[in-house]
Amino acid sequence: MLMNPFLMNIDFKSGDLKPNDRTNIRKLSNMKGMFLDTESERRILESGDPLIYSFSEKVLPEEPGHLQIAMTSINPGKVGQEYYMTKGHYHKLAHTSEVYLGLEGRGCLLMQTGDGIFASLDIRPGVLAYIPPFWGHRMVNTGNTPFIFFAVYPGDAGHNYGDIEKTGFAKILVERNGETFLANNPRWKKGSSF
Ligand SMILES: [Fe+2]
Repeated sequence: MLMNPFLMNIDFKSGDLKPNDRTNIRKLSNMKGMFLDTESERRILESGDPLIYSFSEKVLPEEPGHLQIAMTSINPGKVGQEYYMTKGHYHKLAHTSEVYLGLEGRGCLLMQTGDGIFASLDIRPGVLAYIPPFWGHRMVNTGNTPFIFFAVYPGDAGHNYGDIEKTGFAKILVERNGETFLANNPRWKKGSSF
């Protein structure tokens, strides 16, 4: 079926993508157990359920040849020492790639292969990251303001959250004594991420 070409508007400052068909939100309760410090998570949830991130999408066919486009905004904040982040995923079609473009705020892109090879890239406004096939990916807000980025990936790529939900990546991004650094994730075991 022939689709008509269309335009969308992007507000680089707010991350608004209009008109969008779907806005998804991820509160802390939707990410239970994904942050390392479960005691801090429990305490935060006793007094509320903060919004960690939201993303807006145009609903497009999940078919080869098409692209998916999304705008994500991660709030600033931490659970214990660990910065707010996206859930992270592999693609269901693992051989598909993705582009992230930083628009506002500051963050870090964590990536990992099923074999446990890890990589990270700092993302700033105007910085484009190319995520090659086979790399799982998660964005982290390391700043004090919303971290906003645009994503585009193949229409049929799909999402595989898999063991990232249980074990995360080999490294987590934490703040200790005002410093941001990558710490080993004690929960992660080699070979468990894919
Ligand atoms: Fe992706």
